[in-house]
Formats: sequence, C-alpha cells, structure tokens
Amino acid sequence: MLKRFGSSLMVSASWLLAVGLGCQILVAAGQQQQPDRAQSQRLYPALQRPSGDVELIARGRALYGISCRACHGIDLRGGDLGGPNLLRSQLVLRDQAGELMGPVIRGGQVGSGGSAMPAQPLSDEDILAVTAYIHDVLGTASRQGGPPLGEAFELDILVGDPAVGRDYFIENCSSCHSPSGDLQGLAARISRPQELQNTWVRGGARTSERPPVTARVTMPSGETVEGVVERLSDFLLVLTDPAGRHRSFSRQGENPVIELDDPMAGHRQMLPRYTDTDIHNVTAYLATLK
Ligand code: HEC
Ligand code: HEC
Repeated sequence: MLKRFGSSLMVSASWLLAVGLGCQILVAAGQQQQPDRAQSQRLYPALQRPSGDVELIARGRALYGISCRACHGIDLRGGDLGGPNLLRSQLVLRDQAGELMGPVIRGGQVGSGGSAMPAQPLSDEDILAVTAYIHDVLGTASRQGGPPLGEAFELDILVGDPAVGRDYFIENCSSCHSPSGDLQGLAARISRPQELQNTWVRGGARTSERPPVTARVTMPSGETVEGVVERLSDFLLVLTDPAGRHRSFSRQGENPVIELDDPMAGHRQMLPRYTDTDIHNVTAYLATLK
C-alpha cells in the first residue's frame, strides 16, 4: 500500500524554529498556529479531566512500552538505554498537550552532552496518545507524591481472557497469521509478557525482524527513485536503492514527492481500535502459543 506523505507532516519541518517562536504545530489538527487553551481542551480531552481519556491513555501506554520505555524506563524515570527522567524534565512539565513533546518525539533531539534521542516515527495520533499517557503518569505522580505505577505494569500484562482473545484473533488477525503457522511457538520465542504484548500491538518490537519500509521518490523532473528507507526526517530522506547505493534527498515541503510503502501500516492502523481489554485478551491468548 502506497501512502502519500501529506502536508501535515511538512508542517513540523521547522520545529526547531517553531519551538523558539512558540507557534508550535498542533499535530492532531494540522494547524499551524498556537492553540488557545479552550481549543486544546476540545482537542485533547486529557487536559479537561484529570484522569484523562481512558482509551487514549491506554493506547499511549502501549505505545510508550514499545517506543520509549527501553530508553526512558518503565516509570518514566530513565531507562537502560540512557534516556533522561521525563518526570523531572522542564520540557515535559511545561508541555500542555504535546506541543513541546511532539517535535522532540517526531524529530529527535541532540543534547549538549552528546546524548541523543533518535526521531520516533509515530503518527500524529500516536503522539497525541503517548503524550496523554505521559501527562497521566505525571498527574498520578504529583497526586500521590510517590513513584507512579512502576512494577504494576509488569503484573498487569497477563490478566486477559485467552478464549475471548482467540475469538478476537480469528476475526481480526487470521487473514495474515495462523497459530499453527507463522505464530507457532511465538510465546516460547518471546517469553516476557511485556515484550510479547509490544510485539503484536505494533507487529514486531524487534526492529531487525520487521520487513523494511520502502519509498518511491519522484523528482520535479519526473525522475523516480525507489529503495529501502534508511532515514526519514522532515529535512532528509536516505534510501538504499536496488543497486545497493545510498541516495539522499533533501526535503522541502512536498518536494520531492515521497510515497512510502510500509508493510506494517496495517498493524498501525489497527492500533487505535484496540481497547485495553482487547489488548489484554489477545496477549493472554498469544501467551498460550508455546
Ligand atoms: C534510543 C533511546 C530513546 C528512545 C527510544 C526515546 N528517547 Fe526520548 N530521549 C532520549 C535521550 C537520550 C534524550 C535526551 C536528549 C538530550 O540530551 O537532549 C531524550 C529526550 C526526550 C525528551 C526531552 C526531554 C527534555 O527535557 O529535553 C522527551 C520529551 C522524550 N525524550 C520523550 C520520548 C518519548 C515520548 C519517546 C517514545 C515515543 C522517546 N522519548 C523515545 C532517548 C530516547
Ligand atoms: C494485514 C496483515 C496483518 C494483520 C491483519 C495482522 N498482522 Fe501481525 N504482522 C503482519 C506483518 C506483515 C508482520 C511482520 C512480519 C512477520 O513478523 O510476520 C506481522 C507481525 C506480527 C507479529 C510478530 C511475529 C513474530 O514472529 O515476531 C505478531 C505477534 C503479530 N503480527 C500479531 C498480530 C495480531 C495479534 C493481529 C490481530 C490483532 C495481527 N498481527 C494482524 C501483518 C498482519
């Protein structure tokens, strides 16, 4: 499936500048001006109610587990791969609804000490969910004055109903997977429940085993180049073409036109539809595939 890179992504091309000017993107709406508070509250229900939108936060929690946890830790206080404590980050504390965190997540950030956060290829909706989740944890931490959640995450994982999860699987997953085919022995290969969950929620937490994302670039001259995407940011696309050459293209808005083919797009599109209960049930079912 080829997906056109829309202009909503280009909006963040100048995020560095935009942060400085305080006119940050409103990722969800694709608008360019700073949202006023009332508008933010309509768009980001998490701001309105201290407990947040339960489904959005659950989705954000799953996403955090997949894309952020290894570096920022199970409780946001920093993790094995060297991400800083987000609960003490001034940027996170100043963020209201993703307007400051969004550009860091999307574009990455290089720190003065040489530490670097790589850009995370999350959609606008995913960024909205993950930042809602971070705000929810922050809220919990400040309400209780203690460490948020912590190990409870791990215990939370295998609480679903495997039989219900199996029905869900037959209906939603069996067009591409089979418990006696490609997923046979899955839970034996991936024995940690958290990792098992991360793997299916987005289809392969282990990046090395994911089928590659490819792109077709159309230059203003009409020339096209195809290849495997090595790096994609708002400013730059690097591909390896079929002859094994690295080709890089600087990006300016819609120029050149880039069409992405991501075999995992189906998995990502399903993500907004999972409820917390679906996630628990399916994980409980997959855990039986030993
Ligand atoms: C490979 C490790 C890694 C991953 C994955 C990662 N981060 Fe980071 N993150 C870092 C590092 C390192 C920094 C500090 C960069 C610096 O020194 O400015 C950082 C900085 C940040 C900051 C800015 C903190 C500040 O005070 O400047 C935010 C917000 C953040 N990360 C959120 C996230 C979220 C949300 C995710 C998941 C979607 C994520 N990160 C994934 C390593 C990572
Ligand atoms: C449109 C096709 C499609 C659908 C539908 C789909 N997947 Fe996938 N899934 C893939 C592809 C492609 C991969 C990556 C290649 C691979 O590992 O098989 C993948 C990978 C996975 C993996 C990792 C497999 C491994 O061996 O590491 C799991 C687990 C998984 N999917 C679970 C699910 C579940 C659960 C559902 C339903 C909620 C689902 N998938 C729906 C296409 C699909």
